[in-house]
Parts: sequence; C-alpha cells; structure tokens
Amino acid sequence: MTTWIGTSWKMNKTLAEARAFVDGLVAARDALGGVRAFVIPPHTAIAAVRERLPSDVPVLVGAQNAHWEPAGAYTGEVSMGMVADAGATLVEIGHSERREYFGETDDTVARKVAAAAAAGLTPLLCVGEPAEVRAAGGEIDWIAGQVSRGLSRLAAHDLRKVVVAYEPVWAIGDLGREASPHEIAPVMEMLSTRFGPGGDARHKISAVLYGGSVNRFNAAALLDVPGTDGLFVGRAAWDVAGFVELVRIGA
Ligand code: G3P
Repeated sequence: MTTWIGTSWKMNKTLAEARAFVDGLVAARDALGGVRAFVIPPHTAIAAVRERLPSDVPVLVGAQNAHWEPAGAYTGEVSMGMVADAGATLVEIGHSERREYFGETDDTVARKVAAAAAAGLTPLLCVGEPAEVRAAGGEIDWIAGQVSRGLSRLAAHDLRKVVVAYEPVWAIGDLGREASPHEIAPVMEMLSTRFGPGGDARHKISAVLYGGSVNRFNAAALLDVPGTDGLFVGRAAWDVAGFVELVRIGA
C-alpha cells in the first residue's frame, strides 16, 4: 500500500504563505510521487492551494473541519459540499483540538464522518487518548471506543472511504512529548486488525495513520510500526522543505 504523508497547517498561514508553500511543492514535484501526500490548509486557503497546484503534482488538498448539515442558518460554519467545492477531497474530523476547544463530541464526529463520506470526501477521523488515560493503561479501549462511535452513523459501503489518524493527545504540539514506536505499537496493531486494511472485512477502513510530534528524526521508526499506513504531521511539515523531507522518508 502507498504510504500516506500529510500535514494540517492548523490555524496558520496567510494566502501568500500558502501559495509559497505550493510553489515549493511544485519545485519538488519529482519527490512527491512515491507517497499519497496531502496538505490541509485553513479554510481561507483551500481554494488558493487547489488552484495553484498543477493537476500533475500529486498532492491532495483537505479541510480541517466542516459541518454535517448541507446548508442553512449555521453562522460561521461551512458544509462538506462547500469544502469539496473549494477543492478539498478529504476532511479532518474530530482532531483533539476540536474536541477540547470547540465542543466536538463523539456524536458530532459521527455526524461529520457520515456527512463527509456522503459528500464524496475522505473522512480523516482523528482519535487519541489523554495523558491520564494512557497513565492508567486504558488507551486501547479508549481508542477502539472513539473509532467505533465515530463510524457509527456511516453507511457500511462508505467504511472503505475512511482514514483513521491515531494522535495521542499527550504527544501533540509544543506541550507534547514524542511517543516511542513501542508506546504506539499496540494501538496501531489494534486499529489495523480491528478496523484497518488488514482487518475484518465488515470493518475495513482504508488506512491508519499516526500523528503527534512526528519529525524527520522519528518518522522512519514510526512508519516501521506494524499497522501504520502513514503519518499525519503538524509543526515539522509547516515549512515546505520539512514536508518534502518527510515525503522522501515515506517513499
Ligand atoms: O494534525 C497533526 C497534529 O495534531 C500533530 O501536530 O505539531 O505534534 O506534529 P504536531
């Protein structure tokens, strides 16, 4: 299977910065073909990134969030159809920052996963346990529960559209610490065998990614963890050279 390497810019980058990143991708186009690469800008830059990327540069564009309702009086929200119209082909759902700061619940996550798939988008379902759950040894049950509930509204024939990203909350961002391959291995194995490409056909999603303080020094070892189909990267890939370096490692 082709390895996925992607980045979410979170709440970063002006249009000018987004365009400069794309120009860097175009300059490195020969390095990009060996993986399934994706970039997830803020909503304001989705269309600009999609339009500036030549169609023969193999990088998917995503959205960081979208609402499950197709249209209506939902001030401040955008729909799955709108992000697709702007050029996104995948949509991130349930990132821990959205669960923590913006009230996302397993129910809103499940609605969004179903709506994304119905709109023809790839739902990138993010799951992860907080530090206290990990400290108590409860991460397997926590993650299996988050994934099951996140998929609960999905039509069975849409399961294969889903990509899951395991991102332990304690390993994300500036305040996080790196997870070791040893620490993530049991979770990645559970995800892959229970839900993933190697698993039971009734629960077959398309890929399982790892995210959380991934960088060029730990990427190869994390990719080697059985059941890992790719990496979902934040800070280390916000600079285009960093992103391309990670793509090279994944290829
Ligand atoms: O979405 C990817 C992200 O949550 C990981 O962020 O900066 O720890 O790589 P970072």
